[in-house]
Amino acid sequence: MNNIDLGVEIGGIKFKNPVIPASGTFGIETSKLIDIDKLGAILPKSITYSPRVGNPTPRMAETDSGILNSVGIPSKGIKNFIEKDLRFYSQFNTPIIVSVFAFTLDEFKKNIEILNREKACSMIELNISCPNLGKQGKAFGMRPEDTYRIVKEIKSISDKPIIPKLTPNTNNIVEIARAAKEARADGVSLVNTFWGMAIDVETQRPKLANITGGLSGPAIKPIALRMVWQVYNNVDIPIIGIGGIVTWKDAVEYLLAGATSIQVGTANLSNPNHMIQIIDGIEKYLIRKNHSSVKDIIGKLQIKEEVQ
Ligand code: DHB
Repeated sequence: MNNIDLGVEIGGIKFKNPVIPASGTFGIETSKLIDIDKLGAILPKSITYSPRVGNPTPRMAETDSGILNSVGIPSKGIKNFIEKDLRFYSQFNTPIIVSVFAFTLDEFKKNIEILNREKACSMIELNISCPNLGKQGKAFGMRPEDTYRIVKEIKSISDKPIIPKLTPNTNNIVEIARAAKEARADGVSLVNTFWGMAIDVETQRPKLANITGGLSGPAIKPIALRMVWQVYNNVDIPIIGIGGIVTWKDAVEYLLAGATSIQVGTANLSNPNHMIQIIDGIEKYLIRKNHSSVKDIIGKLQIKEEVQ
């Protein structure tokens, strides 16, 4: 036994380690493949107030070192989610983060009011950044003022910590994160997928029925990592780093850049055991580097001179 402390805390919620599945890459079936109680938190696919079927198919396309998707948030609706999924996940001894998507502020609020009553829900991730449901990739949180308004309204009615998930499809991620902080968000998830497209040259048609979609996977890691580092250096708010994390080294890069916690997404689609290997790998790294706590490396990127 060693005494490495992998625990982190965001918005008053304690996670036994920093590793969380990214929304849309984890479900009840994942619990048959890995030991859920080894994870920092449980985080299922975004849920909407009413049931939805999602976008037409094909919804996914492989690209070089990344996946493009336009699933369109199919959802059973929040009531069904609470009765079935939330009840199922509550058997585990792991905090549950519920990801919520809505088309309007009122719809967001209705979801929050329902989740306020659910003890099993520890925290809410606000999906204000899905690129697949507005026209031209438009999402709720592409401008600081919209981000501020929605987070502030939600915070005023929520009994749970609120973590908005921010879009990378903006020209100023720092301003958006600052708006979230000013609206009293408990943290920010950085980042959602990058708006992209792929074309089949034989059929001369888009590979996705929705034409465009969100890119995830190793292709986006250097850009998402830069965004985490920029926000860490400019805004005092806990960060959950997301984008192309497959190995423990990817995760450690995000922690050094300033993420308190990280999410694993695309890698789960091939094997959710990546998350367990990442937890083990972080622990071994901390031992090798003579650290006793994961907190010792958060934001500890070594830079000779201050560059920004
Ligand atoms: C979907 C939602 C997202 O937030 C995202 O980043 C990519 C895809 C979707 O369900 O279409």
